[in-house]
Amino acid sequence: MSKRLDDRSTRHDRFHQKAKKEGFLARAVYKLQEIDEKHRIFDGGHRVLDLGCAPGSWLQYANQTIGERAVLVGLDRAPLDRPPTGARIVVGDVLTIDVKELLGDLPAFDIVLSDMAPDTSGVRSMDQARSEALFERALEIATLVLAPGGNFVGKLFQGPDFKKLGDAVRSKFAVGKTVKPASSRQISIEQYVIGKGFRGQGVVGP
Ligand SMILES: C[S@@+](CC[C@H](N)C(=O)[O-])C[C@H]1O[C@@H](n2cnc3c(N)ncnc32)[C@H](O)[C@@H]1O
Repeated sequence: MSKRLDDRSTRHDRFHQKAKKEGFLARAVYKLQEIDEKHRIFDGGHRVLDLGCAPGSWLQYANQTIGERAVLVGLDRAPLDRPPTGARIVVGDVLTIDVKELLGDLPAFDIVLSDMAPDTSGVRSMDQARSEALFERALEIATLVLAPGGNFVGKLFQGPDFKKLGDAVRSKFAVGKTVKPASSRQISIEQYVIGKGFRGQGVVGP
C-alpha cells in the first residue's frame, strides 16, 4: 500500500476520534459536511444516491441533514455491517450495475454522491487511472439519473485527466468546482469535484 495514497498513520487522527464520539461510521463524514456547508449540496433535494457508500457515514449525514423526507439509496460492492436507518442498499459493482436497479421506483435522484476509491496498488499512475474510471462512471450514472437542477459530488485522484474530467462536470452543470476538504489528508491526492444545477434530465427513469 502506498504511503502517499493511504496513510495509515493518520487513520486514527482527530477526525476519526470525533466520528467515533459523534456516532458516525467513518471520518469521511466530515468531508461531506464541509462540502455541504460551503456548497449547499442538499438544499431542496431529498432523493440521494450514494455510490461507494460503505461503511455508511455519508448516508448517515444525508439522513440527518434532509430529515424525514430523505429517500436514500446506497451502492457498494461490499455489504454494509450496519446499514444506516432508512437507506436502501444495493450490493454491486458500479462499473457493471444496471442503473434501473439503483432507481427502483424513483423517477430520478436530486443528488448523486461518489466517495468511491479504488484498491490502491502503490503504483500512482495505476491508482489514478482506476480512480478516473470510477469517477467517470459516477458522472455517467449522474447524467442518467439526476433530475434537472440536481447536484453531484465525486471523489477523484489528481492525475493526467483531472482537468478533462473537471471540464466534463462543468459542461453538464451550471456550476463546477474542485475542493479539498480540511479532513481530507494533505498527503492524499484525492479531491472532490462538485457539479451544481444539472443542465440535463435523467434519461433512465421508470
Ligand atoms: C472511502 S469508502 C466510502 C466511505 C463512505 N463515503 C462513508 O462515508 O462511509 C470507498 C468505498 O468505495 C467502494 N467502491 C470502490 N470501488 C467500487 C466499485 N467498483 N463499485 C462499488 N463500490 C466501490 C469501496 O467498497 C468502499 O466501500
